[in-house]
Amino acid sequence: MSNTPHALPEGSQITVCEVGPRDGFQSEKTIIPTARKIEIANAMFAAGLRHIQVTSFVSPRAVPQLADAAEVIAGLDRPEGSVLSALIPNLKGAERAAAAGVDAVHTVVSASETHNLKNVNRPIAQSLQDFAAVADLMHREGIVVEGGMATAFGCPFEGVVPPEQVAMIARRYQDLGAKRVSLGDTTGMATPATVRAAVQAIRAKASEIDICLHFHNTRGVGLACVMTGLAEGVSYFDASIGGLGGCPFAAGATGNICTEDLVYLLEESGYCTGIDLERLIAVAGLTQDTIGRDLPGQVLKAGPRLRRYDPDLTVTATG
Ligand code: COA
Ligand code: ZN
Repeated sequence: MSNTPHALPEGSQITVCEVGPRDGFQSEKTIIPTARKIEIANAMFAAGLRHIQVTSFVSPRAVPQLADAAEVIAGLDRPEGSVLSALIPNLKGAERAAAAGVDAVHTVVSASETHNLKNVNRPIAQSLQDFAAVADLMHREGIVVEGGMATAFGCPFEGVVPPEQVAMIARRYQDLGAKRVSLGDTTGMATPATVRAAVQAIRAKASEIDICLHFHNTRGVGLACVMTGLAEGVSYFDASIGGLGGCPFAAGATGNICTEDLVYLLEESGYCTGIDLERLIAVAGLTQDTIGRDLPGQVLKAGPRLRRYDPDLTVTATG
């Protein structure tokens, strides 16, 4: 890895953006009470997370789970330097997010036509055209624009998504003044090879925009894709507490890569996240209790690497 031109050296600061309250809670059948959402997000801040995608300003008919977006934001204790973002599909969402006081908006368009129609009920070209007014408003309000791109590594309806298509949308976001483009692996189709191809295609066509990688662990290679991202010089990753997550409008979608597992991997590899793993595991426990079923995160179950057990409480194998 160290011989690749962009690879991030050990000790580099990596940003972990927590998306569970948005990507996770949007997919839960049972609606989580607003007060519990606030408690969980505040506990995330207390664990050291500084970037949280906390909700969506979308149609409450499309996603009733996040209809309380403004109330959740109003209840948060936001630490100095924190960046609170929300997903928005259109200008109405941007206006609502600005009124609620977000620091950043995460626009959403898909790299594949069929998923864009399913997710936001309009063609890709229409979404991108509409984002011009969104970007104007956000720049006037001093709100950061992060350009989200769903199905960036493959589409459950169309299959392969060419890196050129991903680079074209990234370039459009760069031209709109977005700070970052976020490549969403909506149904866990990314592999190290496709991650490398997409990142390199963006660098060739939109060299000024930062890149965020947003993986789902549907096929078990999410953290391998993170390692490829690091080797390609990416320093910003989304993840979801306990491995919650999924998209109600994408067949076969399952959870994101898990925040505790990602923080564990990064810290044990010599990178700095500023996040306290033990406290994060406690937040994952609270989230698991809230959801009422086991979450897929593995560090949540196993604990940190140096967790010690009492030998007196462990059976001895005797012949
Ligand atoms: N917030 C709240 N309400 C919204 C809204 C928003 N951002 N955007 C549109 N609406 C309302 C309109 O005001 C209108 O309400 P009315 O019928 O009471 O007048 C209604 O929704 C329909 O508006 P329209 O622009 O025709 O939307 P649509 O039916 O074509 O749906 C979206 C388009 C984008 C609003 C909808 O598909 C959506 O919310 N998608 C988000 C999906 C999502 O969150 N996916 C998971 C994340 S990847
Ligand atoms: Zn996602």
